[in-house]
Amino acid sequence: MADVEAQWMANPNRYDDETYSRCGQSGLILPKITLGLWQNFGGVDVYETQRAMIRRAFDRGVFHFDLANNYGPPPGSAEENFGKVLGQDLKKHRDELIISTKAGYRMWPGPFGEWGSRKYLISSLDQSLSRMGLDYVDIFYSHRVDPDTPLAETMGALDQIVRSGKALYVGISSYSPEMTRKAHAILKDLGTPCVIHQPSYSMMNRWVEDGLLDTLSELGMGCIAFSPLAQGLLTNKYLNGVPEDSRAALEGSFQTGMLTEENIDRVRALNEIAKRRGQTLAQMAIAWVLRRPEITSALIGARHVQQLDNSLDALDNLEFSKDELAEIDKYAADGGLNLWQKSSDSQAPA
Ligand SMILES: NC(=O)c1ccc[n+]([C@@H]2O[C@H](COP(=O)([O-])OP(=O)(O)OC[C@H]3O[C@@H](n4cnc5c(N)ncnc54)[C@H](OP(=O)(O)O)[C@@H]3O)[C@@H](O)[C@H]2O)c1
Repeated sequence: MADVEAQWMANPNRYDDETYSRCGQSGLILPKITLGLWQNFGGVDVYETQRAMIRRAFDRGVFHFDLANNYGPPPGSAEENFGKVLGQDLKKHRDELIISTKAGYRMWPGPFGEWGSRKYLISSLDQSLSRMGLDYVDIFYSHRVDPDTPLAETMGALDQIVRSGKALYVGISSYSPEMTRKAHAILKDLGTPCVIHQPSYSMMNRWVEDGLLDTLSELGMGCIAFSPLAQGLLTNKYLNGVPEDSRAALEGSFQTGMLTEENIDRVRALNEIAKRRGQTLAQMAIAWVLRRPEITSALIGARHVQQLDNSLDALDNLEFSKDELAEIDKYAADGGLNLWQKSSDSQAPA
């Protein structure tokens, strides 16, 4: 068995389709779909399933993996598991990989275990590197705005992190348009570009269309959109109740209040549009966020390889007609499923 494992070879054709995009006006390139390890990659989950998903993603041209200090559960265990897969399977591909992590949410007790102080960000990244067995990450994010620490300190820490070689690029997550402008300006003055923003975005959560995407274009920043499937709601999995192996059934991050009969009817209507396009609803939801030129990558989650494969096939049909977009808006925009917000300076996301 050990011999068979040692022989795993990455698919040599993994870049043939060239399904990647430039991140704003930087030299950073990201796959159109990125795999995130927030859920299903913790110490409580089956390691071999995680390993199979990471290998499969890489084999299909997904060279970006997104983490954060607190992903698990328990917090930190997703980074440990990812480090293990790296060590076992992907070490020789390190220079092909874009690995990101973040700090902002609670990670350890006391005043320096969360938010945006220089002390927290730098020590958290040191811990992340040690858990993943890395010398550097490719992207390090401030995970949320800290209303109490001066933004100049948070951005100063990001600049120091790049200069120390512990991250190649830095970004921000869930910052409002106004805070994005300020963060970008401070970093620019320091000589470190703010290359990427990571906001939530989906057919049912459109806050980024209210100024953020325009701001990012103007500043030349890229955008990686998280939870394009609204954590699974924008798939066919809740059409006939709540399956046992679903996020809604198993843990606390899913807003089960979203599963009203009215919303499920809307999801059912969206599912019919997807069918007419020859796609699953998950595929249409991913294609829908990628329709915007400002979106560099759609940042998805997956429970197992079959889900991942299904989602990656979204790339087979990324075009929408005007009529399709209008019909989607009828069910999923104003007066429809537009339930979620926001930037972290107005409300803390998951
Ligand atoms: N910056 C931030 O504050 C922040 C916040 C949240 C997430 N993120 C990042 O974004 C990543 C993705 O977030 P997410 O997991 O919420 O994204 P998502 O893609 O919206 O939801 C993933 C979930 O959808 C279901 N699913 C996935 N593919 C499917 C398919 N083809 N068919 C049917 N169901 C499917 C699965 O639900 P089940 O597990 O129920 O089967 C899966 O766990 C995270 O891993 C993290 O990297 C960042």
